[in-house]
Amino acid sequence: MIVSAYVFADGVEFAPEAISAAAQAVRVGKLVGLPTETVYGLGADADNATAVAGIFSAKGRPADHPLIVHVASFDGGMSGVSHYAARVPSFAQQLMSAFWPGPLTLILPRRDGVGAAAAGGQNSIGLRCPEHPVAQAVLSALRQPTNGEPVVWGVAAPSANRFGRVSPTTAQHVAGEFADHQDLLILDGGPCDVGIESTIIDCTRGAPVLLRPGAITADQVVAACGRPLISPEELEAQGQQAPRASGTLESHYAPNATVRLMDAKAMQKALEMLGTEVDKSPQSGTSIAVYARTPMKIAARSIEQRRMPSDPAVAAHELFSVLRELDALRVKLIWVEEPPAGTAWDGVRDRLQRAAA
Ligand code: TXA
Ligand code: MG
Repeated sequence: MIVSAYVFADGVEFAPEAISAAAQAVRVGKLVGLPTETVYGLGADADNATAVAGIFSAKGRPADHPLIVHVASFDGGMSGVSHYAARVPSFAQQLMSAFWPGPLTLILPRRDGVGAAAAGGQNSIGLRCPEHPVAQAVLSALRQPTNGEPVVWGVAAPSANRFGRVSPTTAQHVAGEFADHQDLLILDGGPCDVGIESTIIDCTRGAPVLLRPGAITADQVVAACGRPLISPEELEAQGQQAPRASGTLESHYAPNATVRLMDAKAMQKALEMLGTEVDKSPQSGTSIAVYARTPMKIAARSIEQRRMPSDPAVAAHELFSVLRELDALRVKLIWVEEPPAGTAWDGVRDRLQRAAA
């Protein structure tokens, strides 16, 4: 059930009943669909093991894949951090000051006895203080209850999609993913600004390790904490095991269609070889789509074309909805032009490579 988080009368305001309904649902151990600035999350009380188990089963996600816990921002996220984290290295502190609230998740050593189910059995915890005003309104209602209700310290929320699929960036996407959960309350906070999941930095290894690229780039992280960023590959080369992160599985974020990444030249050549052949059989009429920044010469009329924005932030913003839109057209094959080099494109490139794997 989709409920708008806003009222649109004389300007835009929160719908207070919608915010309190979502907070109340979390308090009693239910799941909620929650907008964040990155993607929509499927949230539950991070300290309620039964509720957290509900997230894993709704998503079909293996129980040993840890979830991100979202905390309220009123004190810079620090009270949530002190509740869940045993220690905060100084470089992690710098990253919080620089980027919270925002699309950055930090993996920190976990305090014993808190958030164990959300952490999927690990002795660390992933924490994020989201910027979306609707997420913040719900988190702060949970942290500062008015009628003597118990405090909820954090909301565990993975992306609100079935395991391995494309993350949702609208409330309608969430409803489509969980059509068999008619009673799921989904707060509609509009389309997500960022459009791809948060950057994840592991802060438990003495130096920052980049687990998942996102809108906050490696360069920005390095500039904010003055420390070089280690990749999981470098960790493994040092004989340390990189942490398990489902968002970092090789195949993830996958639409139903098969995604092929290629450079502009290879794509143009493939289109030329295809000619107008695909137009002949109506069955395969809409079976190929092209998503490229470079304008392509396309002879076949039946090929779906979408232009990839040349600004990486705009490309990220629309990436998952384009993939979903092409799936809805029952396209079988999506040819995607490889994003250009440079850390600003790392997030989009990473999601496309996993979608193609
Ligand atoms: O933008 C986002 O991060 C979205 C929104 C809803 O906040 N959430 C999200 O959650 O992408 P999810 O569960 O789909 O991805 C969480 C990633 C996973 O790859 C998980 O393994 C990793 O974070 N993670 C969480 N806690 C961890 C921990 N303690 N150690 C290592 N990795 C962890
Ligand atoms: Mg996910």
